[in-house]
Amino acid sequence: MKKPIIVAMDGPAGAGKSTVAKTLAKKLGYLHIDTGAMYRSVTLAALRTKADLKNDDQLEHLAKSSKIELKPGEVENKVFLNGEDVSKDIRTPEVTQASAFIANCVPVRKILVARQQQMGREDSASYGGAVLEGRDIGTDVFPDAQYKFFLDASVETRAKRRYNDLVKAGTQTTLEAVLADVQARDDRDYNRAVGGLRKTADSIVMDHSDLTVEQSAEELFQYIQKHPKN
Ligand code: DC
Repeated sequence: MKKPIIVAMDGPAGAGKSTVAKTLAKKLGYLHIDTGAMYRSVTLAALRTKADLKNDDQLEHLAKSSKIELKPGEVENKVFLNGEDVSKDIRTPEVTQASAFIANCVPVRKILVARQQQMGREDSASYGGAVLEGRDIGTDVFPDAQYKFFLDASVETRAKRRYNDLVKAGTQTTLEAVLADVQARDDRDYNRAVGGLRKTADSIVMDHSDLTVEQSAEELFQYIQKHPKN
């Protein structure tokens, strides 16, 4: 069987990676692997078992013993933790906040990166390829990915988008507070000692702030069509 094509998609939080990656994977017929969901699942397991978020041994044990499954769905991908559908539970602000501890835990990263590599190499074989989204895909998970996209957007644009989403959902907040939160997340993502967010020499950097999800995915799809690789 032909080696699966790996599309790496990295970028800061709020740049629209998730929806673009999902749409692009659909266009290509590839498997979509949301690696953030895996870090979030371990975070949820840690919060539920009241693990010490600063204890690497406890977190490593949790990551090793947690069965995390990403199942492609018609409309939405589902995330299962030890057989339970946790797709919604992993998206709470509490999990988002605590996920920074899990992302900083080097033994957990090692376990999750190895699983992501296996999913990209083996689980995607019947699809012909995979779109993996995260922070360290092009650097650590698949440094030899055939395509490395870095989806960027200014911190102001991302904060404004997030603020509008929150207001629409009825949350009381201010643009300043959201901006500070996005900046803090960037800080953690860019400055993490291991698995930090970085562009590589071969990253294709795109800022799609002015495009819709569909337009953005179409642009990446066209890029791949114009640059075939085997
Ligand atoms: O993309 P997201 O917000 O769902 O990511 C959740 C957390 O996991 C966030 O703290 C960043 C971290 N993460 C990571 O360290 N490496 C990845 N490949 C993906 C996410």
